[in-house]
Amino acid sequence: MSHVEEHEGTRRDFLYYATGGAGAVAAGAAVWPLVNQMNPSADVQALSSIRVDISGVEVGTQLTVKWRGKPVFIRRRTQDEIDAGRAVTMDELVDPIARNNNIDSGADAEDKNRTLDEAGEWLVMMGVCTHLGCVPLGDGSGDFGGWFCPCHGSHYDTAGRIRKGPAPENLPVPIAAFEGETEIILG
Ligand code: FES
Repeated sequence: MSHVEEHEGTRRDFLYYATGGAGAVAAGAAVWPLVNQMNPSADVQALSSIRVDISGVEVGTQLTVKWRGKPVFIRRRTQDEIDAGRAVTMDELVDPIARNNNIDSGADAEDKNRTLDEAGEWLVMMGVCTHLGCVPLGDGSGDFGGWFCPCHGSHYDTAGRIRKGPAPENLPVPIAAFEGETEIILG
């Protein structure tokens, strides 16, 4: 006797808008809860994407949105942040790998390989510390002017690359693309 379960009902598109402040989640030092039963199944995750309205994001600020159950940082960097990120050479990095889903996995973690636009203004990253999963603090935090995870003291630079502390990897860059001039699609 066999019992076959149908899973077809799980193949749905997840598409919603996170506009301005609505849908944004507070970035903080809290551990992001990892509650498996709240996550959609793997095939739904593969399909899910969201649109984010970025028209209200000023230079020098960031938006944090929730995507696939995790925070994503969308930062509009200042010229100083761009310059600082681009001045870093690969031998200064703890993790010289891009960690970028948009490009070949062999890419290095040069600043330009981690931003959404050529000018380097828009940086989109998973807001999850690669040590034990806390949500790092942003807005120029830490010794390298980027993000700081106070849980155990990991410092990320202005391109979200780990520079100091126990975290082993750069903050991952998810698949993301511009849709026109005012929206970013994640996934
Ligand atoms: S979880 Fe970020 S430093 Fe430990």
